[in-house]
Amino acid sequence: GDPRLQAISNAITVVPHFPKQGIMFQDITTLLLDHKAFKHTVDIFVERYKDMDISVVAGVEARGFMFGPAIALAIGAKFVPLRKPKKLPGEVIAEAYELEYGSDCLEMHVGAVEAGERAIVIDDLVATGGTLSAAIRLLERVGARVVECGCVIGLREVKGQRRLNGKPLYILVEPREIDGCYY
Ligand code: PRP
Ligand code: MG
Repeated sequence: GDPRLQAISNAITVVPHFPKQGIMFQDITTLLLDHKAFKHTVDIFVERYKDMDISVVAGVEARGFMFGPAIALAIGAKFVPLRKPKKLPGEVIAEAYELEYGSDCLEMHVGAVEAGERAIVIDDLVATGGTLSAAIRLLERVGARVVECGCVIGLREVKGQRRLNGKPLYILVEPREIDGCYY
């Protein structure tokens, strides 16, 4: 495999029992502090998406904002923030998703993405997939084609590629030290 992936995995810190008991928190702030590993992360996504005719990189608030813009700039696409409720000033569409306790919601500005555009969704981590599902629904509601979701961290399925709502899901590294639940 790609030797850069080990450097990326090593740069992520695992924090047991954060934010609560039983959760192995995958802290990407140490990845952001490590110039080489951070650059490898962006480069791998850029190499994958640069020739796929992508015009939209949609990033999920908050941690998708830490990777999405760098990828968008490098592949010549626009960056579209998918935000938590009540943050965007213009007209929005919204999609709710389930959390362990309760639900949350993502919003996107109407007019940010046009029908027929080819989009990728970028986030730091996929766990249940609820967040990415909401992101996919937002983009599809305006007629965009979601080519793939890209995440730094997630569990790959045994057969290889994992999918989400029928969309391909591209994962760089698996979470470390997990014992049940990770975030
Ligand atoms: C975290 C993570 C992903 C999401 C993954 O975000 O950054 O966006 O959970 O979980 P899922 O696959 O089960 O939906 P969170 O909303 O906790 O906070 P953030 O604002 O720090 O990104
Ligand atoms: Mg998040």
